[in-house]
Amino acid sequence: MKNILLTTSVTLSLCIAAFAYPAAKYNAANPAFTVFAGGDFGWKNWQPLDQRYCDLFNNGVQPLNDCDSGDRSAHATASTEQQLTANFMASVAEKVKPSFLVNVGDNFYSSGLKLNDTFSINRFYAAYVDTYNHSSLNFPWYMTIGNHDILGDVEFETELAHKLDARWIMPSSYYSHDFQQNGVSALFIHYDSDCFISKYQKDSSVYKVPYVVDCNRVKEDQIQFIKSALSNSTHDYKFVLAHHPVWSSSANYTTDLAEINDLVQQHKAIYINGHDHCMALYQQNDVPYILTGGMGLTEPGDCNNGVRFGNFTVKLFASQAKQGGQAPGGFVSMDFTKSELVVNYWTRDGNNIKQASKKPSYSVTVPAALDKQWW
Ligand SMILES: *[C@@H]1O[C@H](CO)[C@@H](O)[C@H](O)[C@H]1NC(C)=O
Ligand SMILES: *[C@@H]1O[C@H](CO)[C@@H](O)[C@H](O)[C@H]1NC(C)=O
Ligand SMILES: *[C@@H]1O[C@H](CO)[C@@H](O)[C@H](O)[C@H]1NC(C)=O
Ligand SMILES: *[C@@H]1O[C@H](CO)[C@@H](O)[C@H](O)[C@H]1NC(C)=O
Ligand SMILES: *[C@@H]1O[C@H](CO)[C@@H](O)[C@H](O)[C@H]1NC(C)=O
Repeated sequence: MKNILLTTSVTLSLCIAAFAYPAAKYNAANPAFTVFAGGDFGWKNWQPLDQRYCDLFNNGVQPLNDCDSGDRSAHATASTEQQLTANFMASVAEKVKPSFLVNVGDNFYSSGLKLNDTFSINRFYAAYVDTYNHSSLNFPWYMTIGNHDILGDVEFETELAHKLDARWIMPSSYYSHDFQQNGVSALFIHYDSDCFISKYQKDSSVYKVPYVVDCNRVKEDQIQFIKSALSNSTHDYKFVLAHHPVWSSSANYTTDLAEINDLVQQHKAIYINGHDHCMALYQQNDVPYILTGGMGLTEPGDCNNGVRFGNFTVKLFASQAKQGGQAPGGFVSMDFTKSELVVNYWTRDGNNIKQASKKPSYSVTVPAALDKQWW
């Protein structure tokens, strides 16, 4: 397998044509620009492997995550939910007019996409191009690699996808881009957290694929890239984005991601992740940790069924099991001003997309300097 990490130190500095922000401001008082953040979406058109094949491996490690029984049973519901949340996102986008979206991975369940494969190309169209084809969603999408993506050829997403749909941007498995408009600037550093997860290096893990073995060996390169990008930055806001959480209500990665979290804390960056299939807000000191894993199937257990978990929890979007244990599908929008960032959680209320898109279900204002308590 080609080691794509050798070609990864790409810094994209894109100047995206500015739209005129509408005169009637929808959300924050007077945002310089708005950005969407979301992840864990790609369920549509997945066809799990034949059960008879999966049965061959029932007593050992299954060869592919396509045999995961939970994913198999969730598939139909998940595909419906993905489309409903896409429609919801489009209706919010019509009003708040985001400049772009930042994504946090798990783009194609259950085993990513493969190169030179007609089925994978059809899936790319079904689960991405034709799901998010509303005109209001026609902006750049800055993508990230998740654990399901590494089970396919990562090069599909880093090298081929943008040729099939120009909105898709992921020049390599880790990269940065920045944006400035109306006097406010922000830096976004996307990295591949899969390379840091120690259990993925175990022989018993379906995620122990050549890609993840290789990139674990050179994970220091990613740390140095993040460190350098943060040290160089003079942006008003700095974000570090990845699939896996540092803080979570279901499984922390505080140990595996410790070195990256130290950089996030030291530079007062804002961390954005997915992996947990719900939405939440956590904090450590004055730094926000935004969970936005609600674009596909939602799983309330990932948000501890809405029961506050640990002193790092600020907000969980899931109802308690006794109330039916639901977690709403949704995404986050961020309104940037020079002095503060308004983080809005948009959660879809069942099928009532019109009602839910009127206002965010929760908003929090964090200061640009991240030097005081905001929660
Ligand atoms: C896909 O096809 C191209 C062109 O034939 C080839 O260079 C490449 O190695 C193939 N990739 C995979 C993963 O099979
Ligand atoms: C989006 O794609 C779907 C599936 O191909 C199609 O039914 C729908 O009409 C398209 N919507 C737009 C706005 O193009
Ligand atoms: C940081 O700046 C140095 C010196 O200009 C440059 O060589 C390096 O590539 C920059 N790092 C990143 C991640 O952009
Ligand atoms: C995450 O770490 C915190 C702090 O060490 C701990 O209180 C919490 O129990 C951990 N969460 C999980 C799901 O293990
Ligand atoms: C949680 O509380 C402990 C004890 O007060 C403190 O040391 C720790 O920093 C807190 N953690 C967070 C994430 O705020």
